[in-house]
Amino acid sequence: MVERVIIIGATGNVGRTLVRQRVEKDMGSMHRNPTVIVGMASREEFAFERDGIPPEKALAFAERKSIGKDTHSSNVFEDIFNMIKGCWEPFRVIDVTASKEILDLHLRIIGCTDSTIVTANKNPVALSVYSDFFRLVSEPQRYGLRCSVMAGAEAVNKIMDLKDLGVLIKSIEGCFSGTLGFIADRINNGGLLSDALKAAVENGYTEPHPASDLDGSDVAKKILILARLAGHRLELSDVKISPFVPEEYMRNEDPGEFVSSIGSLDKEFKERSKEARGKGNVLRYVARLSVRDGTPAVCVGLEEVHADGPLGDLSGTLNRIVIKTDLPGSMHYSVTAPGAGLEITGQNVRRDLLYQIRDRRLVT
Ligand SMILES: NC(=O)c1ccc[n+]([C@@H]2O[C@H](COP(=O)([O-])OP(=O)(O)OC[C@H]3O[C@@H](n4cnc5c(N)ncnc54)[C@H](OP(=O)(O)O)[C@@H]3O)[C@@H](O)[C@H]2O)c1
Repeated sequence: MVERVIIIGATGNVGRTLVRQRVEKDMGSMHRNPTVIVGMASREEFAFERDGIPPEKALAFAERKSIGKDTHSSNVFEDIFNMIKGCWEPFRVIDVTASKEILDLHLRIIGCTDSTIVTANKNPVALSVYSDFFRLVSEPQRYGLRCSVMAGAEAVNKIMDLKDLGVLIKSIEGCFSGTLGFIADRINNGGLLSDALKAAVENGYTEPHPASDLDGSDVAKKILILARLAGHRLELSDVKISPFVPEEYMRNEDPGEFVSSIGSLDKEFKERSKEARGKGNVLRYVARLSVRDGTPAVCVGLEEVHADGPLGDLSGTLNRIVIKTDLPGSMHYSVTAPGAGLEITGQNVRRDLLYQIRDRRLVT
C-alpha cells in the first residue's frame, strides 16, 4: 500500500524545497507504506496522476513548468476536494500555500473524508473562529501543524502534549519572528533601525512588503495558535498587537517608500535602545500569553527584557519559546531554534507526514 500525497502550493519556496527533498531523500523507499506524490497544485493548476507523478515531472511542476494533459485548472480547491472525495483511499494533503481562503478546504477534508492534512500555512488555524480551529485540531493524528509556529522546533507539539497531560500552562513567551529578531539585534548592538531594516530586506528575510513583518500580525497569529492549543477559546481580535513601528508608517503601500520613511524613527529607536542598555536590558519583539486565575491575556510588541533573562541572549534571526507550567519543581521549558528557513520547514513538513503514515514500519 502507498501513502498518496497531494501538495498544494507546490510551486512556492517551501513547496519547491519539499518536492526536491522528497525526490532527493526518497523517503518512500524506506517504508513499508511509502509516500508517493500523486497531486501537485499551484494557485491556478492542479496536476494529478493516480500512480504517482514521476520525479522529473514533479520537479518540473515545482519549477512552474506545465507537465501536460493531467493538469486541471478551473477552481483548484474544488478540483482537489472532488478528487479526494471521489476516491475510497485517503490522501495525505500538504498545504504549503499562504492562502487565506483555504480554511473551507481544510474543514471539508477533515470533516467529510478520511484524508489527513499537514499545514505550514498558519492562516487556516489563526484566521478561523475558535470552533473551526477546534474541528481541525481535535484529531491530532489527522492534522499536523508543527510548521505553523517555529517550524524548526517543538513549540506546537510540546504545548499539545502538555495540554493532553493536564498540565496547566501559566505562560508562554517567545520571540517568533526571525526578521524582527534580526532587526532588534542590530539595534541592540548600536545600529540604526533604518540600516537594520535595509539589511533584513537585502538578506531576503522580509516579506515582499516589509510592513507585513513590522505590523506584528504574523507574530500575533503564532501566539494565538499556541494559546488556542493551550486550551484558550481566543480569537485574533483578542490579541493586543503593538506594531514594531507606529501604525501610521504602515499605511505606505510602496515597499521602497516604506523603507525610506523608517529613517525618521532612527533617533527615537537609538535613544530607546541606549536607555534599555543602561538598565541592563535589550529590546525584543515579544509574544506573550499569561494566564491569571484561568483568564488568558495575549499580546505582542516591542519590549525591554533583561539581557540575562530567558529572551535576552538571542542573536540574529534565532527564535525562542519559554513555557512555564504549574508542575511542581519543574524548570521552564525553553527551546531556541533558527528562524525556520526553507530546508528546515520542508524537513518538518515531512516529519509531520511521517506521523500520518499508516502502520509506519521501516524496511531494509
Ligand atoms: N519560508 C519559510 O521559511 C516558512 C517557514 C514556515 C512556514 N512557512 C509558510 O509556508 C507557506 C508557504 O511559504 P512560501 O514562502 O513557500 O510562499 P510562496 O513562495 O509565496 O508560495 C506560495 C505557494 O502557494 C500557492 N498559493 C498562494 N496563494 C494561493 C491561493 N490563494 N490558492 C492556491 N494556491 C496559492 C502559490 O501558487 P503560485 O505559484 O501559482 O502563486 C505557491 O505555490 C506560507 O504560509 C508561509 O507562512 C514558510
